Amino acid sequence: MSDADRELRVSKIRNGTVIDHLTAGQALNVLALLGIDGSGGETVSVGMNVPSDALATKDIVKVEGRELSQSEVDVLAVISPEATINIIREFDVVEKQRIDRPESVDGVLECPNHNCITRGDEPIRTRFAVLADGLRCHYCGEIVRETEIPTHLDVS
Ligand code: CTP
Ligand code: ZN
Repeated sequence: MSDADRELRVSKIRNGTVIDHLTAGQALNVLALLGIDGSGGETVSVGMNVPSDALATKDIVKVEGRELSQSEVDVLAVISPEATINIIREFDVVEKQRIDRPESVDGVLECPNHNCITRGDEPIRTRFAVLADGLRCHYCGEIVRETEIPTHLDVS
């Protein structure tokens, strides 16, 4: 058996996105971020606590036939700053998107403050400023800590 055979855990994909080097433990949050719960029929492979290098483990998510929006990339950058996004076409990595911590995250999180203007009847796109260890609602100042982000994903 070659080293490559020994190391293959999740098969290669033909077309889609590989989100690699995820902070271990973030794979399910990334699926939630992408609105993937299996009901949409997408082919998705997930590796959790996969050996990454000598000292560390990582999570990895492979989604067939799907690329990420900028808002999704922005949230990913906050919850897993070391992640890399690989765009795959016909089995080749055609693009590697390194992700930068954004200044704001727009349209993907619901503000936890029920009285926030973004929770009213008029549709207002949410906007959070990215702070050192959390996010702050642009409209009401409510703070969402990084660890709380997954519970405020607005993926309906
Ligand atoms: N990959 C995949 N399907 C493909 C091509 C690549 O699932 N058809 C996966 C690889 O398994 C790897 C990631 O996409 O997890 C990036 O591929 P590649 O750039 O070939 O790997 P590395 O050089 O190890 O990338 P890096 O060091 O940037 O993580
Ligand atoms: Zn708010």
